[in-house]
Amino acid sequence: MIYSFKEKNLIINELVKRTLYDELDKDVAYKNFNLNELHNYFSPDKKPQLLNKLYALFREKKFQKEYDELCNILKLEFHTPDTRFQSIPSIRIQMPGDKSVDFHADIFYGHGNNIVNYWMPITKVHGNNSMFVLSEEDSSKLIKETKKLKESVIDFNKKCHMASKPLEINYGQIFKFNSRTLHGTVFNDTNDSRVSIDFRMVVDNDDVGLKDQSFFITDRKNLTKEVTSKRAMLYFNRENKEKILPSQKYQQLICLEYCQDNNLIPVRLETELSGFDYFPTLFHISENCKDENFRDIVVFSKENLPDSAELKRRFNDIAKKNKLIIHYVFQDEIDEYC
Ligand SMILES: [Fe+2]
Repeated sequence: MIYSFKEKNLIINELVKRTLYDELDKDVAYKNFNLNELHNYFSPDKKPQLLNKLYALFREKKFQKEYDELCNILKLEFHTPDTRFQSIPSIRIQMPGDKSVDFHADIFYGHGNNIVNYWMPITKVHGNNSMFVLSEEDSSKLIKETKKLKESVIDFNKKCHMASKPLEINYGQIFKFNSRTLHGTVFNDTNDSRVSIDFRMVVDNDDVGLKDQSFFITDRKNLTKEVTSKRAMLYFNRENKEKILPSQKYQQLICLEYCQDNNLIPVRLETELSGFDYFPTLFHISENCKDENFRDIVVFSKENLPDSAELKRRFNDIAKKNKLIIHYVFQDEIDEYC
C-alpha cells in the first residue's frame, strides 16, 4: 500500500539534495540543481563516492532527527511503540542506463518473514526508473511455481516483470510491503535519475532473519546510552572442536568485527591453553575481570565454552558472581548475568 505523509514537515529530501550538491565541482545555482538530473552533473563512476557521502549524512544527528520522526509517524500509523526500525536506511541511486536489480522478495536475502518494508523515493519516480512490484497474491503464486519448476533466474525475472507494475509516486509517499512481496528494478531507459531510500521495521521479538540484532533499534536515545564504548575480553579456542569451529584466525576476525559494530574495545585476545582439559584461561579471565576492568567477554560461539556439566556450572557461578556479559557472536545472543 502507498502511505502519504506531510512532505513539507520532513526535510529528508532537502538533506539528501544538499549533500549531493556539496559534491558538485561545477558552478550551479542550488535552485537549479535537480536530483532527477543527477546524471548530468556526475558520471556513473562517481556513484560510490556519492553513496559514501549519503551514508555519512545518515550518521549525522540532523538526518537522524528527520528519519526517526518518519519512523515514529509510521509506527503510530501501523505498529506499536516497541516496533524496531532499521537504524540506518539503505540509499539507492539509479541513473539512466543503470542496470537492474533482479526481482526478489526480501526473504530471499535473509530478512525475516514478518518484517515490514518501506520504500520511499526522494525524486519523482515513473516507468523504468522506478521499482516494479507484484501483488502479494501474484508473488506467492509465482514463487511457488518457480520453485516447483526449478526455473532459471532469467525466466523468473521475465515472469516477474510481466506481472508487475512500476510505482508512480513522489517524495511524500511511501510504499509499504511485506518481505514476501516480489519487487525489482529494470534497465533505466528514462531520462531521469532516481534517488530512493528503503528501510525495514520488525515488531517486538519477531524473527530478524539473518540480520544481527544491532540492525534494528527502537529508539536512538537508548542506543546513545548503550553505545558508550565498553572494554571487552576476547576468548578463543578450537581444540577438539575442529569440525565445528573455524580456525582461530577467522574466529578472531569475526569477533573483532563484532566488537567494532557493538562499540566494544578489545582489551586483550586470549587463547585457551592447548592440552589442558579444564579451561584454565577461561576461568582465569572470568575471575580476574575486575582487575582488568571489564564485564564483557566475546566468544565466537557457545561451542567455545566447556561441554562438561561441572565446568559449565562453575563458569555460570563465576559469571553470576562477577556480573559478566557473555557475547556469542555466532548465535547472535548475549547472556547478561546480574
Ligand atoms: Fe528488496
